[in-house]
Amino acid sequence: MGKDVIVACDFSSAEATYEFLDKFTGRKPFVKIGMELFYAAGPSIVKELKGRGHKIFLDLKLHDIPNTVKKAMSVLSNMDVDICNLHAGGAIPMMEAALEGLTRADGTRPLLIAVTQLTSTDQETMERDLLIKEPIDQVVMHYAENAKKAGLDGVVCSPLEAEKVHARCGKEFLTVTPGVRFADGDKGDQKRVMTPEQAKLIGSDYIVVGRPITAAADPVAAYERCVREFCD
Ligand code: C5P
Repeated sequence: MGKDVIVACDFSSAEATYEFLDKFTGRKPFVKIGMELFYAAGPSIVKELKGRGHKIFLDLKLHDIPNTVKKAMSVLSNMDVDICNLHAGGAIPMMEAALEGLTRADGTRPLLIAVTQLTSTDQETMERDLLIKEPIDQVVMHYAENAKKAGLDGVVCSPLEAEKVHARCGKEFLTVTPGVRFADGDKGDQKRVMTPEQAKLIGSDYIVVGRPITAAADPVAAYERCVREFCD
């Protein structure tokens, strides 16, 4: 898969999602279905969007004992999503079990990427609540290396970490980066942001963009602008 823009469909119902995606009459964007939409609309939303021709990143961030994650992943694999994810904090045995569950009888499988430390966790929270005393960027890189050791395809990370992840884990190891804003746009609650063009320069493989597209006056034009800045 090459570089692409993934649109975060953070809607609370299937209807709102269809109303938004119906605006796209030309190219079908790669979409991200997160917990809110999946829990509200159920697995049929995946089937429906797949049927409409969208590629799907199912962002459910699994984290449980290896056997449970393995079985859950085999259900997701049958839904024919393109990318799914888990928490690297579940450790290597859980990530290996996830890959096993995801792999179909014919050897094919969706891409599997790991969340390292959530970007809502900072150094202070990590030390106080998780008793992890190492510098946070070392923790993120260590988790990325664990994901690679387990055989995963990449990580979700801040665009500011993408370059380092590639240096440590190789060019082929995917970096999927949210926190993208247009140079002239509103940052909202995202603090450390990059433009699509900057994300391209630092080597992100996929950017995940929500509100700059979903809340734009012309979402299709905003999407096309992202594609132009990031992919061309
Ligand atoms: O609207 P916005 O562009 O900020 O949306 C970014 C998307 O990426 C949201 O679905 C958000 O939950 C997700 N995300 C993020 N930061 C992370 C991981 C996921 O913003 N570290």
